[in-house]
Amino acid sequence: MNCRKRVWFISRHSLCYYFQNIRNMKYITLSQTEDLMPTLGLGTWQAAPDVIESTVYKALDLGYRHIDTAFNYNNEEAIGNAIKKWIDDGKGTRKDLFITTKLPHVGNRESDVMKFLNLQLSRLQMSYVDLYLIHVPFAFYCDPETFTPLINKDTGDYELDKETNHITTWKKMEECQKKGLTRNLGLSNFNENQITKIIKASTVKPQVLQVELHAYFQQVDLRKFCAENDIAVTAYAPLGSPGAKTHFVTKYNYSPDVFPDLLCLKEVNDIAEKHGKTPAQVLLHFLVQQKVVVIPKSTSENRLKENMDIYDFELSPPEMNTLKKLDKGEDGRIFNFLFWKGVERHPEYPFKLPVTEAEVTK
Ligand SMILES: NC(=O)c1ccc[n+]([C@@H]2O[C@H](COP(=O)([O-])OP(=O)(O)OC[C@H]3O[C@@H](n4cnc5c(N)ncnc54)[C@H](OP(=O)(O)O)[C@@H]3O)[C@@H](O)[C@H]2O)c1
Repeated sequence: MNCRKRVWFISRHSLCYYFQNIRNMKYITLSQTEDLMPTLGLGTWQAAPDVIESTVYKALDLGYRHIDTAFNYNNEEAIGNAIKKWIDDGKGTRKDLFITTKLPHVGNRESDVMKFLNLQLSRLQMSYVDLYLIHVPFAFYCDPETFTPLINKDTGDYELDKETNHITTWKKMEECQKKGLTRNLGLSNFNENQITKIIKASTVKPQVLQVELHAYFQQVDLRKFCAENDIAVTAYAPLGSPGAKTHFVTKYNYSPDVFPDLLCLKEVNDIAEKHGKTPAQVLLHFLVQQKVVVIPKSTSENRLKENMDIYDFELSPPEMNTLKKLDKGEDGRIFNFLFWKGVERHPEYPFKLPVTEAEVTK
């Protein structure tokens, strides 16, 4: 082979390798169905219907193919409108998309699964979703007028439905999948024990687990458990949920001190500068490089573009180690759901409770 030919062969070879690598990073294959799930999705929590409708249409135009929503986000209808318009405008087909939604806390029981999924499908204006998750392992009684949790007027506590039975609910989820209403099934905010019990009793094992996961809360043990059980992991709040700060502080009186500011961390900024990338891109790529799916939320066109431009660089082992060292374990958790007053008294509340000062001084 002459020199010019060899250079062309090598560069063609490395180009193939480069594109193969990007493709491997852009999708993961789900167990049992072998469906491809895009490792980047658009989060839609805290996005009002009028805003999210145009955002989703824009995101699809930009190349997003995975949208994450939930009954509780109150925006499924708007997302359905955007997707329908995008398809009607001839820009793609339903099969090109991966749509996730979630069974709400007020519907977390066998008798409600099918009812909620059918309602959600009609709101989304589609005949199936790609992934249906049980949003949380606990349940509240439902106000049938508003589909929101019943709250005790005297105490302000949420009315807990303590009869929650994950196995019978999961069997209904399996039935929904059999009927073709969802292609894949999963869980969100469940702990390892809860998932193990479902695995033991299920025909279809949970295929995806969606949990809080970011540089300060890397869920190392839970991810290892998921890898051993062929469960793909989706990271919610992958940027540390900067928007949650305002939401929780104004709505639920949380202390602003508990919120991380991952985008400002020196370690993240130094790595970003080295690669000519932004801190958000480094935080997202850090997870995707470990085969974790990320679903950053944004309604800004620039940030939508920024958050999808995460596949053209690789973090070196020392850079990965620097970011891995940021993990604070359980102390890094933001979403403990204690804003739902009394939720920790539910028998299926999944997290360790923060240690109070009184307990420390005992
Ligand atoms: N399963 C669950 O229980 C659960 C819980 C929480 C969240 N989720 C899902 O996970 C998604 C992501 O979590 P999240 O929304 O809490 O947090 P996140 O994606 O970590 O952060 C979103 C926030 O960061 C801002 N942002 C986005 N891109 C940015 C960038 N490149 N630079 C700077 N700021 C940026 C957004 O503001 P702008 O919109 O102004 O850009 C928004 O305020 C949710 O939207 C939801 O779909 C699931």
